[in-house]
Amino acid sequence: MSVRALEEKTIVVTGAAQGIGAAYARRLVDEGCNVVLTDRNREKLEACAATLDGPGKAYAHPLDVTDRASCEQLAATLTEAYGHIDGLINNAAVFSTITMKPFWEITDKEWDEVQAVNLRGPWLTVSALLPLLTKAGTASIVNIGSDAVLLGRPGYLHYIASKGGVHGMTYSMARELGQFGIRVNTLSPGPVYTEVPRETVTAEQRETMLSAQALPRTACPDDMLGTAAFLLSDDAAYLTGQTISVNAGLVHR
Ligand SMILES: NC(=O)c1ccc[n+]([C@@H]2O[C@H](COP(=O)([O-])OP(=O)(O)OC[C@H]3O[C@@H](n4cnc5c(N)ncnc54)[C@H](O)[C@@H]3O)[C@@H](O)[C@H]2O)c1
Repeated sequence: MSVRALEEKTIVVTGAAQGIGAAYARRLVDEGCNVVLTDRNREKLEACAATLDGPGKAYAHPLDVTDRASCEQLAATLTEAYGHIDGLINNAAVFSTITMKPFWEITDKEWDEVQAVNLRGPWLTVSALLPLLTKAGTASIVNIGSDAVLLGRPGYLHYIASKGGVHGMTYSMARELGQFGIRVNTLSPGPVYTEVPRETVTAEQRETMLSAQALPRTACPDDMLGTAAFLLSDDAAYLTGQTISVNAGLVHR
């Protein structure tokens, strides 16, 4: 059964060209939403949007979340097309391309790029889209955090620090935006294995995390979708400023 009143909502998903972002977009199109898929990888983005075929509608719009002008261009397009937006999933991140290494070997360039996308990105995106979110009256923002923060996972401190910032940003954003009827929550995934190969987990770490879970199976993108849809829906109308870990009961430390 569909979550209440999600149909016909206009939702923006960042980082929607692949992985979990593409899955959020697919689910929302299935729920009957107008979904604006955005990503800085234009080719993959358009290919991904072309695979989605209703009952909702999928539109692809290029976006670099680190670039204020790019965020403002998206806002201008959406203002003309819809006049408001009902929801935003801040999912874009530097994640699958990260190489694990001790933090003292992370270069300044790597550090800055991760903070620019993962932390400045959601702030810039929300700031640019704020008039559109406010217009909706009851909009919902879902910031994608990470349980890697709560686990204190080693090997990618720049990423952990950026996602820790996202968790914190949610609490303050929720307070500042409540006056506009906008809810802000963090969906914090445990490890999720997508179609994209990555170097942020070793085989040994994967087994250790699995054995610390209550449900003894690994997660795929579909495991995140119901929670995202719920947070965007009117069923979550009294829920804001929360961090929801979707992690099969993975025990922290
Ligand atoms: N996969 C996991 O295990 C896991 C666990 C916890 C949290 N997360 C979070 O979930 C989200 C999705 O994870 P994923 O595994 O699909 O990641 P991914 O690396 O496969 O996809 C990230 C997407 O973001 C896009 N992107 C990067 N920089 C951008 C920019 N400047 N502007 C616009 N788009 C940009 C990329 O092109 C890509 O499509 C991320 O926020 C990630 O940190 C993932």
